[in-house]
Amino acid sequence: MIKLSPSILASNMMHLEDEIKIFEKMKVPYIHIDVMDGLFVPNFSFGTVAIKNIRKATDMVLDVHLMVYDPIKNIKIFCQCGADIISFHFEATNKPLKAIEYIKKYGKKACITINPSTMAGAVLPYLDSVDQVLVMGVVPGFGGQGLIPETLNKVRKIRAYADSHNIDLDIEIDGGILPENLKNVLEAGANVIVGGSAIYKDYKLEENIENLYKIIREYEQE
Ligand code: DX5
Ligand code: ZN
Repeated sequence: MIKLSPSILASNMMHLEDEIKIFEKMKVPYIHIDVMDGLFVPNFSFGTVAIKNIRKATDMVLDVHLMVYDPIKNIKIFCQCGADIISFHFEATNKPLKAIEYIKKYGKKACITINPSTMAGAVLPYLDSVDQVLVMGVVPGFGGQGLIPETLNKVRKIRAYADSHNIDLDIEIDGGILPENLKNVLEAGANVIVGGSAIYKDYKLEENIENLYKIIREYEQE
């Protein structure tokens, strides 16, 4: 199933509650929440307080993207504040299996993430253990960048490997997804689509979401 995950890094924070109401009305299933530590990426964004408040406001799936070093140290607090899916970066830990086990111990969905510079092969040994793989379409840290086209080859490789090993896997793609490249992204095999700029463009959330859904419906009918 193809799912949209609006990245609230692009949100107008003063109106987040209204934005969430629009997502709910339009049956958008996920909210993508970026967590940054200023070290793994040169920026800061949301933390546990924001996630706790968002959790109180909605039953939507909270798709939490940890761009932090040593994620194992932080998994517990993010599980406890209401995340449903926890994505950690392969590049940020030397114990990916432990991170996955830890996330699952708290009853959450585990997602392993790779940067544009990391090969698809890095995550293949973990596909059996995770619920989702997140392929970064841009160098993480900032919204509004252009999709690096080569990252789609990694989506293709991961999808082909999962299919050939009968692994039921969500593949999420994050960064630079726009209506113009969405069809290619879906064809490559991604099924969880993060949209920051694509959804918040000109602050026409409903119109932008409807436009993305139209492309998804057309792809599904092909
Ligand atoms: C970037 C973040 C993304 C970002 C995507 O590091 O992980 O979630 O908000 O924004 P767009 O869709 O504008 O590239
Ligand atoms: Zn993200």
